Amino acid sequence: MVGKRRSIGVGLMGLGVIGSGAARVLLGKADALARQTGSPLVLKKVLEQDLTKHGSMGIEPQLFTTQFAEIVGHPEIDIVVELMGGEHPAFEYIKEALIGGKHVVTANKEVMAKHAYELLALAKEHQVGLRYEATVGGGIPLIAPFQRDLVVNDILGIYAIVNGTTNYILTRMAQEGLDFSAALRQAQELGYAEANPADDVDGLDAAYKLAILTTLAFNTEVSLENIYYEGISRLQGCDFRYARELGYAIKLLAIAKRAGDCIEARVHPVFIPEDSLLAKVDGVYNAIHVEGDLVGKVIFYGEGAGPSATSSAVVADIINIAQNLSREVGSAPELLFGREQPIKPMAEIETRYYLRMNVVDQPGVLAQISKVLGDHFISISSVIQKEADPSTQTAEIVIMTHPAKEQAVQQALKETERLAVVKEISNFIRVEAK
Ligand SMILES: NC(=O)c1ccc[n+]([C@@H]2O[C@H](COP(=O)([O-])OP(=O)(O)OC[C@H]3O[C@@H](n4cnc5c(N)ncnc54)[C@H](OP(=O)(O)O)[C@@H]3O)[C@@H](O)[C@H]2O)c1
Repeated sequence: MVGKRRSIGVGLMGLGVIGSGAARVLLGKADALARQTGSPLVLKKVLEQDLTKHGSMGIEPQLFTTQFAEIVGHPEIDIVVELMGGEHPAFEYIKEALIGGKHVVTANKEVMAKHAYELLALAKEHQVGLRYEATVGGGIPLIAPFQRDLVVNDILGIYAIVNGTTNYILTRMAQEGLDFSAALRQAQELGYAEANPADDVDGLDAAYKLAILTTLAFNTEVSLENIYYEGISRLQGCDFRYARELGYAIKLLAIAKRAGDCIEARVHPVFIPEDSLLAKVDGVYNAIHVEGDLVGKVIFYGEGAGPSATSSAVVADIINIAQNLSREVGSAPELLFGREQPIKPMAEIETRYYLRMNVVDQPGVLAQISKVLGDHFISISSVIQKEADPSTQTAEIVIMTHPAKEQAVQQALKETERLAVVKEISNFIRVEAK
């Protein structure tokens, strides 16, 4: 039946940064896309709140609507493309579209992180496609490789830089010695960070993406609540200096790895060896290091955001569904969430730690700290005393530990902070071998 369809109708919801980018590709590459799909893709409706906003895009004014009902009820719309962002009403709109028999393409990581299972089950029930390649890593192909090319593998681990804003900030802090707020300001001036950057700098955006990747990689339903996340605002310039002296870089990593019968899923700043590939990923770039039992180590690298790169993924999803429609092949997802694999509580993870503290500059201090750590079975691999301050008679010490349980480290730090000779636990950062 290839070529029998006269056209494939698209309803676009949200004409912001990504929506405009996707519309530009759909309109600008219309002929090439029609050749790929076998039928022309025709924009039938655009849902926007402010209809005065986008007159210049070359989209006919009568295609704009403020009413979702005009999208979901439109008989000639086959594919609904959700690019509004936010959980509500995007989740409800996607749900209604699937129930209404529309295929859906979305770039919405928040909705997919929180509701993937329910939405994919609905798509399967209603025999329609639900594609979400742009939710993680912008234009970097990730969802499709996990669903297809890597499917034979038992995934052992994912170590990912999936937030360009924080990677940009960390790069500036490392390379120029900027403090966190100055690096954030620079990112905002350049358009790499939003006016309200909380979701990025607090690690939530990376946690959304990790939830999506972990679900796919380990074929299990991962709830966002089970993912530990921590942001980058506690990092200071000296942490980067000490990291460099010790042979490490600092990155915000989203980590998912097999740990016995459990999975670890966590987002936080980490020390990684400075000669590792991830340590060399600078600026707004993203990189996702995947380890499979058969394929070994694979790294996906590229632009993790922005209208061009993200449109590449969004429009590819549209094309994929359109090709299936042209060939009369189903697009409904397979549900592979069979395995019960609990997420390991953060308290139980085991890793090495970098500890930085401000102490009274006098003999015997280290012995007291070592005793507290030792009481919790935390052994020290190295200690460096840094920068004594004669005016306050304090000194900064940096301790690297051997692998230890998170719970033990947290408890030991509480007790260490109560020692009279310890002024402050200034920071602690987990260490990964990647
Ligand atoms: N930006 C990126 O680089 C990037 C990368 C990957 C994925 N994504 C994802 O792509 C999606 C869109 O992001 P974006 O950066 O394009 O956001 P954006 O620039 O804020 O665009 C969203 C658009 O949707 C409209 N909108 C929001 N709620 C609506 C509603 N209820 N009804 C009608 N229109 C509505 C907004 O209109 P108003 O402005 O009038 O509110 C705005 O024009 C998000 O899910 C985001 O996470 C973005």
